[in-house]
Amino acid sequence: MDGTGPQRDSVAAIGGPPISRRRALAVIGGSVVTAGAAPLLFAACTPPVPVDVTVGLDPATLAVDEPSVIEFDFIRPDGSTGAGSAWLVRGSDGSLVAYDPRCPHQGCLYDWEDGDDRFVCVCHEAAFDLDGGVLFGPPRRPLDRFPVVVYGAEIVLTVPSDLRAPRTEA
Ligand code: FES
Repeated sequence: MDGTGPQRDSVAAIGGPPISRRRALAVIGGSVVTAGAAPLLFAACTPPVPVDVTVGLDPATLAVDEPSVIEFDFIRPDGSTGAGSAWLVRGSDGSLVAYDPRCPHQGCLYDWEDGDDRFVCVCHEAAFDLDGGVLFGPPRRPLDRFPVVVYGAEIVLTVPSDLRAPRTEA
């Protein structure tokens, strides 16, 4: 047998006779996507477009290992404007990290507690260390980071275009 026989053009339905590949695709497509729902499904599955935000801040002015929050405005691809913020942490090796200000559990506001050297979320009593790792609480992953690049005395963050302010209560 050369492998190009009828078995390549048909799919065996469970408990039923073989159906053609074209018919199988039609059945699968028809059961998942209807004509009117296709744009909605596509929009729901499409990740937000990333947007670059330039912040006029020389990272050399940031104290080492002391998180600072910055606020910024940005323009989305559709022309609307948004506002966001990020926590910046400059390391002793010159590295720079930008944390998404929304808790990875349910998107709440968190803050840096100087005395305890940790980020604390107001909603469900979670805490994160300077590296964003979970110290305790319900979050199952570390703080999310925004890609960040330094150009001299400017910082360029890449944020999702649907970035919103953190929630202030659970
Ligand atoms: S939203 Fe931060 S711990 Fe729940």
